[in-house]
Amino acid sequence: MSLPSTQILLRYLEEQKERGKNRIWLTQEAVDTLRALHSRPAAPATPPAPLTQSKSTPATPKSNPAPQPAPTVSTAPSPAQNADKQAQLDAIRTRAESAEAPRALGTLRDTMVFAVGNPNADLVFVGEAPGSEEERNREPFVGPAGQLLDKIIVAMGLQRADIYISNICKFRPKIGDGQHQGMKNRKPEPQEMDSCVEFVREEIQVIQPKAIIALGGTAMEGLLGISGSVSSQRGFWHQLDGIPVAVTYHPSYLLRNAAVSEKRKVWEDMLMVMEKIAMPVSEKQRRFFSK
Ligand code: URA
Repeated sequence: MSLPSTQILLRYLEEQKERGKNRIWLTQEAVDTLRALHSRPAAPATPPAPLTQSKSTPATPKSNPAPQPAPTVSTAPSPAQNADKQAQLDAIRTRAESAEAPRALGTLRDTMVFAVGNPNADLVFVGEAPGSEEERNREPFVGPAGQLLDKIIVAMGLQRADIYISNICKFRPKIGDGQHQGMKNRKPEPQEMDSCVEFVREEIQVIQPKAIIALGGTAMEGLLGISGSVSSQRGFWHQLDGIPVAVTYHPSYLLRNAAVSEKRKVWEDMLMVMEKIAMPVSEKQRRFFSK
């Protein structure tokens, strides 16, 4: 007698778990097929377990004594889906570049620094505005704050290419007439953020990340409309257009304030994010900065 498809799938997932695999990438077609299977009535004796459910594994204890995390199922985008998202992001970039509102203010410099990263990212980081290094490279977070952000991303087990990085203001704010500001930077004012925020929201709508991280109080204010201290808004979840948003300190703040206690808080926020989006968290990661 042949096994029902859900049982074959569960058996396969158990085998993968025993081999230490905790993520399985599926095409959209496979996800659709699974959804269709899942919506059929289950056999009464063996209702199908959710795919992410942790099950004890009585089989082959000798070969695999250590408990393994249950596999989580992620959807691998097809190349066509990726290209489509990239095309939508390119269209937003083109509109932002020629948008009247930020230019009409007269307080922002001319060069637009749009965003960078994976159009299919699970995580979107949003900062405040490009600085001189970012303007020169036309890429967000490439200066000292960007180098610290890269370290945080790597500590999370990710690469810059896995995530998406944007800024709430897409132009470097002018100091004076902008002619003689050298390397000096300033935070964007509310009206400067307002002139760009629609583009950031559109980017997020295209990417549909599992979570957003607002880096610092300025990004928090521009993205969520909340003013106040980062310390009062971090450590729990906000929402933007139905997507969870975590607020944490800006890397520049960490560069200015080297206290380990502040770095620890950012790392706690990253652990909260990793758990939210079902990333594996190792014991070593959990113990970074432990007291
Ligand atoms: N700080 C930001 O907020 N954004 C950048 O792109 C660089 C520094």
